[in-house]
Amino acid sequence: MDRQTRWVLVTGASTGIGRATAEYLAANGFDVYAGARKPEDLAALGSLHRVVPLRLDVQRDSDVQAALEEVSKAGTGLFGIVNNAGIVKAGPLMDVPVEDMIEQFDVNVIGIHRVTRAFLPLVVAAKGRVVMMSSDSGFFATPIFGPYCASKFAVEGYADSLRREMNVLGVKVAIIEPGRIATPIWNKGEALLAREISSPLAPLAKKVGRHAIDGGNKKGIPPVEVAKAVHHALASDRPKERYIVADNKMEYKLLRVLPTRTVDSLVAKEMRKIEKE
Ligand SMILES: NC(=O)c1ccc[n+]([C@@H]2O[C@H](COP(=O)([O-])OP(=O)(O)OC[C@H]3O[C@@H](n4cnc5c(N)ncnc54)[C@H](OP(=O)(O)O)[C@@H]3O)[C@@H](O)[C@H]2O)c1
Repeated sequence: MDRQTRWVLVTGASTGIGRATAEYLAANGFDVYAGARKPEDLAALGSLHRVVPLRLDVQRDSDVQAALEEVSKAGTGLFGIVNNAGIVKAGPLMDVPVEDMIEQFDVNVIGIHRVTRAFLPLVVAAKGRVVMMSSDSGFFATPIFGPYCASKFAVEGYADSLRREMNVLGVKVAIIEPGRIATPIWNKGEALLAREISSPLAPLAKKVGRHAIDGGNKKGIPPVEVAKAVHHALASDRPKERYIVADNKMEYKLLRVLPTRTVDSLVAKEMRKIEKE
């Protein structure tokens, strides 16, 4: 394999943002190790130019070790890690089973640590980059999406610590914060919505869930827009610390600086609106 090219690992590359990112990077100067779990997804990724599929379930230490061995054996080094794999668990926090919370964090947070810890020595050797797929839910915690928001807030903290450590070693760390992106993630929420829950918040939760799924499907922006931000984070001499990928960037910037009480009132107003839908 060509040692002069820059190799990047993208986790969760089977669909959505991960798939779009693998394709975009491969078409724009990078060689890509694309992580996926299912044989059919690995086969599909393997048919893409400049993409090498890697079996990689981020919840499995054995997968991470095997992937690391494969990359090490190939002798390509690794310039970048794109920690993209993620799932959504949701519901009123008083209804959320502990197992859901554990799975949410095991994929979205511990999964990032498993992959980053294993591959970081290669990235340090390349003075490369780490990119974290956070979310608007990583700085704005919405009701009914508590498990997901908590996991993405954790991703932001992890990434900030890592960036400040890696600064010393010449590795840059960027956080991507997409808003609503049109990917299969939304329809995966139907299963959660169909669940019976018992708290007094159940009727509101159903409406908020329906509103989110429909909005994501109808108003989500194409995943390639996120891929472009990832490319900038990997290719630019001066990558940003944070990339918001959304139509309503100003609104998000405001949410970050407004007093908590004001944000609470805005959220309460929105909940009342959704309740009447
Ligand atoms: N779509 C949005 O609006 C949006 C907004 C902000 C942030 N994000 C974030 O963007 C990332 C990608 O989401 P997406 O919208 O593209 O959703 P998606 O199409 O559902 O893709 C999720 C990806 O993660 C993979 N994955 C799930 N569990 C995994 C595990 N244990 N090990 C390895 N891979 C695993 C999935 O693989 P399988 O196919 O094998 O399940 C799939 O490749 C996530 O971190 C998500 O939180 C999405």
